[in-house]
Amino acid sequence: SWTAAYYVKHEVEKIRQTVGNRKVLCALSGGVDSSVVAALVHKAIGDQLTCIFVDHGLLRKNEGDTVMKTFKDDFNMNIIRIDAEERFLSKLAGVSDPEQKRKIIGNEFIYVFDDEADRLKDMDFLAQGTIYSDVIESGVDGGKMVKSHHNVGGLPEDMQFELLEPLKSLFKDEVRAVGIELGIPEEIVWRQPFPGPGLGIRVLGEVTKEKLEIVREADAILREEIAAAGLDRDIWQYFAVLPGIQSVGVKDGERTYDHTVGIRAVHSVDGMTSDWARIPWDVLEKISRRMTSEVDQVNRVVYDVTSKPPSTIEWE
Ligand code: XMP
Repeated sequence: SWTAAYYVKHEVEKIRQTVGNRKVLCALSGGVDSSVVAALVHKAIGDQLTCIFVDHGLLRKNEGDTVMKTFKDDFNMNIIRIDAEERFLSKLAGVSDPEQKRKIIGNEFIYVFDDEADRLKDMDFLAQGTIYSDVIESGVDGGKMVKSHHNVGGLPEDMQFELLEPLKSLFKDEVRAVGIELGIPEEIVWRQPFPGPGLGIRVLGEVTKEKLEIVREADAILREEIAAAGLDRDIWQYFAVLPGIQSVGVKDGERTYDHTVGIRAVHSVDGMTSDWARIPWDVLEKISRRMTSEVDQVNRVVYDVTSKPPSTIEWE
């Protein structure tokens, strides 16, 4: 029967044979699939692997630092972090349509990656974290950049790389088992789904640095409290959104006119349908109290009690 240990051993051999003494590039996002593929290829060929991590400034709190700590410091990988926040935010300025925001973020990701990859001309292979469900969903196999709109942008179409996709036959739970086998921390292996456009679609309407900061802090509190309540493996996806509503409140006897934060938490199997999670009220109470006292400019917290359909999981 299938074991992660055997799989790793076998794939490492295969990657070594395929790559020889040539070089591999990998776009690391910090998600489960790209993390596992990077660790696997690194185990096989070490310094012949270079990873590019594009930080688009739309990540959750501490996410970029965690990725770097794990893969650069602990795994000792060659990894280039590109801080592209300014670039993304300037492209997003004045844009409020969700699909346009997605398109801008996806395209910019390609441009940033492309600029960096151009400087690394001697790469022969591109390692991708394509897994079995991606192959099924896209109906595209091999030789082409798969992962369409649901991953950040895919990668440049005219890149002259051979593809390395060692996870292509694995289901998600097998990918996680391989991740554990490779020593990737549980917080990455069990990371909940996070959309490529990141917080860019959780700040509804126009994205600004200030709004990102609010939703990022609120989201960090939500994640802390869900974990503290032992619910983090139970709820499929949970996050904060900033609807852009301001409403009247009162703090220390003074009138406020501040932001509302929305809490979204769902049970799902594959994201196609979902049921809203019944977070215990005392947990919600604590989250609400912390958000309104610890996050600047938040004076109201609401809980999303809709399932999909008719809602989608994300608010944009
Ligand atoms: P919706 O909102 O469509 O979300 O019910 C279903 C799942 O897909 C994720 N999602 C995205 N992931 N790029 C991504 O990589 C996107 O543009 C995107 N939009 C939604 C969402 O987080 C949920 O897990």
